[in-house]
Amino acid sequence: MSQTAYPPISEHLDDPESAREEGRRKMDWAFQHMPILTELQKGFEDEKPLSGQSIGMAMHVEAKTANLVETLADGGAEIAITGCNPLSTHDDVSAALDSHENITSYAVRGVDDEEYYAAIEAVIDHEPTITVDDGMDMVAAIHDDYPELIDSIVGGCEETTTGVHRLRAMDADGALNYPVFAVNDTPMKRLFDNVHGTGESSLASIAMTTNLSWAGKDVVVAGYGYCGKGVAQKASGQNANVIVTEVEPRRALEAHMEGYEVMPMAEAAEVGDVFLTTTGNRDVIVKEHFETMGDGVLLANAGHFDIEIDLDALDDLAVDRYEAREGVEAYEMDDGRRLNVIAEGRLVNLAAPIALGHPVEVMDQSFGVQAACVRELVENGESYGPGVHDVPDELDEEIAEIKLAAEGVEFDSLTETQREYMGSWEHGT
Ligand code: NAI
Repeated sequence: MSQTAYPPISEHLDDPESAREEGRRKMDWAFQHMPILTELQKGFEDEKPLSGQSIGMAMHVEAKTANLVETLADGGAEIAITGCNPLSTHDDVSAALDSHENITSYAVRGVDDEEYYAAIEAVIDHEPTITVDDGMDMVAAIHDDYPELIDSIVGGCEETTTGVHRLRAMDADGALNYPVFAVNDTPMKRLFDNVHGTGESSLASIAMTTNLSWAGKDVVVAGYGYCGKGVAQKASGQNANVIVTEVEPRRALEAHMEGYEVMPMAEAAEVGDVFLTTTGNRDVIVKEHFETMGDGVLLANAGHFDIEIDLDALDDLAVDRYEAREGVEAYEMDDGRRLNVIAEGRLVNLAAPIALGHPVEVMDQSFGVQAACVRELVENGESYGPGVHDVPDELDEEIAEIKLAAEGVEFDSLTETQREYMGSWEHGT
């Protein structure tokens, strides 16, 4: 294949050596709090189960992800990685990764669209046999532009809800030509990462970026899925009044029964102080909503892509636009109202200036599942046909058991009689 001209991170930095040191420090801190990856890494180092594999990754390149990448490299794989969002890369961590002999990192913070896709191509030039994606951009690029690689790809793993949605749509069209694990859909990922991770880190990022309080605010959460539930619960825990908007009747009812106000966005727009979208959908907050919002509102997005808040429409309405604080863009309306967009409407817990992403412990779980899935693809990849696959339950259980052991938590197991009873239909009243 032709080598693209896009260079690895080190060639983008003035002082790569000190960047590497700082990146390594961040990784070491995170790793101390990642007992699952620590345990898996020991086995990987001893057994080298990934020898001979080339793994192409598009992920948020920061300290926790970097520890997953090194765990896979320690398992014997060659790895090429880039970002999955133009604003979520930590350049120092990217530089630290790039200095590992089995890893090339093309992730650079603040790239434009052209560079973003050039970096994905640079990863694909390494001819991956396994892909690990967060949002499906790598799978899409391979299918669109490098279909000749598909025969040698064992399979892939997808980290997030939006990526799994896109993959399922591709699968339904008969267009997905290799197996991909829906890592996002496992209990060990979704019940912790999407709920607690997104809840805690989105609120923390908004608070740190704005230096404003949650207490007493009317906080509008768009979408009451896994992420929305976490955001609502944590905002409520910080004494905000939470308002939920939904399009799915059972989730709207769930939010109502859990004590939140539920109303259409058109009504919520008039009363909200802070708006946080978590739908994975587009055009959730649009022109008609901007027109009725109060002065000083905060607008942020925690969904995967930056299309939940219609920033083009907001820009059309604005008579002035300026940076109110680092990471906060004020759009001033002709009546003097200022609508403040945080982190350009990109996922706020990763793209805000001081965003650190999910807490380490949560990502240890998600990435533990990722590492177990990569191992499964190498060991049993041929038993999975093209399409989206659920992660085998025993892999998810393995990760939960490692975490419980690390936490010193003991729990019961079924007796033989109980197991038989639970598996039988013959016992009635
Ligand atoms: P989910 O599918 O559980 O929830 C999405 C909810 O939004 C659903 O209940 C749906 O009915 C609702 N919805 C859709 N369109 C809507 C609209 N126009 N107005 C109001 N509600 C609407 O998905 P999940 O797991 O909560 O993920 C949501 C998004 O967050 C995805 O894009 C996912 O990739 C992303 N994500 C972001 C993370 C982060 O770190 N910021 C972490 C995990 C997921």
